[in-house]
Amino acid sequence: MSDLIELSNVSKIYDGEASQTALAKVSLSIAAGQFVAVMGPSGSGKSTLLNMIAGLDKPTQGDVLVDSVRVNRLSEAALARYRRARLGFVFQFFNLLNQLTVLENVMLPAQLVGSRSQVARARARQLLDQLGIADKASAYPARLSGGQRQRVAIARALINQPVVLLADEPTGALDSHSGDSVMDLLAEIHRQGQTVVMVTHDARLASTYSSRVISLRDGRVVDDAALETRPIQAPSDLLHIRTGEIDL
Ligand SMILES: Nc1ncnc2c1ncn2[C@@H]1O[C@H](COP(=O)(O)OP(=O)(O)OP(=O)(O)O)[C@@H](O)[C@H]1O
Ligand SMILES: [Mg+2]
Repeated sequence: MSDLIELSNVSKIYDGEASQTALAKVSLSIAAGQFVAVMGPSGSGKSTLLNMIAGLDKPTQGDVLVDSVRVNRLSEAALARYRRARLGFVFQFFNLLNQLTVLENVMLPAQLVGSRSQVARARARQLLDQLGIADKASAYPARLSGGQRQRVAIARALINQPVVLLADEPTGALDSHSGDSVMDLLAEIHRQGQTVVMVTHDARLASTYSSRVISLRDGRVVDDAALETRPIQAPSDLLHIRTGEIDL
């Protein structure tokens, strides 16, 4: 399998009163179709690593290649286009726009890359349906539970069919039941072929859902382990579970 993401000797040093090395010469590659968990103690560089892949921040040194795009060489305008068109990003605290409805939130990235409204709306509805929250399309995020909000954020992240879905502690703000339910959805999305890179503090989630765990400490990769993938439930089973679980 060819590599979708490749980091070569990536270092990130934040300048400040004391300069802070967030990543130190990290080299790794991620093949299309993997479900990678990034683990490590607080401050070990997990979010920085994800932000490098997302082009949210530039490395001090080294190269970041995603789907043949050399992310660290892009101008700000090209970076914005790259993020919108090729990436999906899910955050711990959802980052939904409270003044827009669920449907409008999900449609927004498609509209930003110039999709026709009708096309964006149809795809957004399809995703909401797939993620078990079609009945919330007209609701505002403030009325939703945490688990429902994260589903909306996942739908928004997927609308432009990103080459990689990046998730930084996607269950960090959820209770364990809602968290497991969100993870089941990510597993199903992965089963359908989506490459996923997820930061988590939770070793149980990492070992249950991912196919590989990269461990960071002090900005360095200290372990990189392929896991046996667990047998995945048939999609119809997941669908069945989801429909019984609207009230997360
Ligand atoms: N914008 C910034 N300016 C200065 N230092 C930063 C900045 N962002 C991160 N750092 C530092 O870089 C190091 C790595 O931070 P990072 O946020 O990547 O850690 P993390 O592993 O995601 O931690 P957590 O589990 O707490 O989210 C930390 O020492 C942090 O203080
Ligand atoms: Mg972090």
